[in-house]
Amino acid sequence: MLRITFITANGERIAAEAADGDSLLDVAQIADMPLEGTCEGQMACSTCHVIVGKDWFDKLPPASDDEEDMLDLAAGVTRTSRLACQITLTAALDGLEVRIPGESRNMQRR
Ligand code: FES
Repeated sequence: MLRITFITANGERIAAEAADGDSLLDVAQIADMPLEGTCEGQMACSTCHVIVGKDWFDKLPPASDDEEDMLDLAAGVTRTSRLACQITLTAALDGLEVRIPGESRNMQRR
């Protein structure tokens, strides 16, 4: 079991649990984070944009060119921004902290 912490736009820390191999987007949605993930991981939207803690960013496999291109279109992008749908969780990422961008709109229908 991996522990993931989401930091909301309001600064609230939400602890979540994940399994090896889970997509960060799925874990975020289960934790009720307002990430739409409209394209369901096809890298055709940027609604799964998250900001990774600096220390963790360096531990992630680098973003592909396609991911970088999508990130260019996301609002509020920072140097440690990633698309949550492209991050597969592994034991090495136990304790990961990611921030939900303030610009992200909550359009969830649930
Ligand atoms: Fe669309 Fe991640 S869900 S790019």
